[in-house]
Amino acid sequence: MPESVLLDAIRAVVGDRGLLTDRADTAAYTQDWRRLYQGRTSAVIRPGSTAELAEVVRLCAAAGTPIVPQGGNTSMVGGAVPNEDGSELIVCTARLNRIRDLDPVDMTLTLESGVTLQAAQLAAAEQDCLLPLSISSEGTAQIGGVLATNAGGNNTVRYGNARDLVLGLEVVLPDGSIWNGLRRLRKDNTGYCLRQLFVGSEGTLGIITAAVLKLVPQPKETAVALCGVASPEAALDLFTRFQAHDPASVNAFELMSDTGMSFVLRHIPGAMLPLQNPAPFYVLVELATPRPSAGLRDGLEQVLEQALEAGTVQDAVIAESETQRAAIWKLREEHSEAQKREGASIKNDVSVPVSKVPAFIRKATAACEKLLPGVRAVPFGHMGDGNIHFNLEQPAGSDAAWFLASDHAIMDAVNDVVREFDGSFSAEHGIGRLKPYMMPDWRGGAELALMQRIKAAIDPGGIMNPGKVLP
Ligand code: MLT
Ligand code: ZN
Repeated sequence: MPESVLLDAIRAVVGDRGLLTDRADTAAYTQDWRRLYQGRTSAVIRPGSTAELAEVVRLCAAAGTPIVPQGGNTSMVGGAVPNEDGSELIVCTARLNRIRDLDPVDMTLTLESGVTLQAAQLAAAEQDCLLPLSISSEGTAQIGGVLATNAGGNNTVRYGNARDLVLGLEVVLPDGSIWNGLRRLRKDNTGYCLRQLFVGSEGTLGIITAAVLKLVPQPKETAVALCGVASPEAALDLFTRFQAHDPASVNAFELMSDTGMSFVLRHIPGAMLPLQNPAPFYVLVELATPRPSAGLRDGLEQVLEQALEAGTVQDAVIAESETQRAAIWKLREEHSEAQKREGASIKNDVSVPVSKVPAFIRKATAACEKLLPGVRAVPFGHMGDGNIHFNLEQPAGSDAAWFLASDHAIMDAVNDVVREFDGSFSAEHGIGRLKPYMMPDWRGGAELALMQRIKAAIDPGGIMNPGKVLP
């Protein structure tokens, strides 16, 4: 079918409002957040309902036209951008943005995939509930993408990843049929767990259009501290102190290095270090409890006093207000943005057992410095769950393109260290377009063969997000 005929048929379904074809309108959808990929497309389709989206997929399937599903386009691995030849159409979920239901007794939130994570958090908070998932891009990232990529983020240490919060899904399959699995049961032991197949599939098996998420009680007390520490070993020691004190209250335990912090202080307007002196590493710890008058703040002070006495912590500050809490979190959440403003970077989103994080950081830093003298290691991230963003910034004053040409060499060197510690080469960002080449090495044999068979069974025409995840 000629493309113009397909687009006319699609326009008849979604209306003029739901179809963007001008270059000026589609440009923002064809480049990824990191600007690693510049794709092309002749149309971005923005359906207004699940039924419309399903009809669009049915038309594309009949025409054999590949589809790239896209939410907020915040992928770190190019998972939501089309290829360069212009043969793929983008289906954007942004207009599926209704909260369908919030049940404070069942503690469930039923919502459409185009709702941003932040809007979902606010909807939960209005009913005195908490959606316990938080990522730096939550103001832009949409629920569909968050689930399709099984996002992790800051609260995994306590609540797990996106997949741990999903009770039900509605998915448009590659033939355009709709699977309505929007159940909200805590127990439902009825055959293969299909929803978990789509969570983390990165749009290669279908398009998530709605979901039922688990909520938890809203915290009654929250306490946040920023601590300066001498080393990742000291950060680990601090983590074990908090775990020994009250593991159930640790909401987040984030690590930053002086290099990353200096980028934030340099590039992010209003960013200020609330400590007396800079430190080689920093920990942001957040404790929270839904129990009123639980003495959370006292507990935090007690652990920090002991850690200061033991020399584990060099300096610490506890947020005294919501404004201070937000200012401390901003230092952490702006790490990626600050790194981008500093120059070109190569990202490694890896995980190792928590106990191995210090050894991993030391070995990986040494390996990268040996490979590329002058390269600036920026390890930061979710230390409490073992997920470190081991990012590398180009050597000061070097050429960005020259530096980026070493991306595979750098990633391979880091992954060699990850392997030594039985870690993962992609902890929370997924595979996207950046990492399929790593799959045979890490997931080869029966595992990859099974994934390929699942893909072929659900998407025999291969139209869903081709070239992503699987090599
Ligand atoms: C974050 O936790 O801020 C992002 O996942 C990080 C990144 O790798 O830049
Ligand atoms: Zn992260």
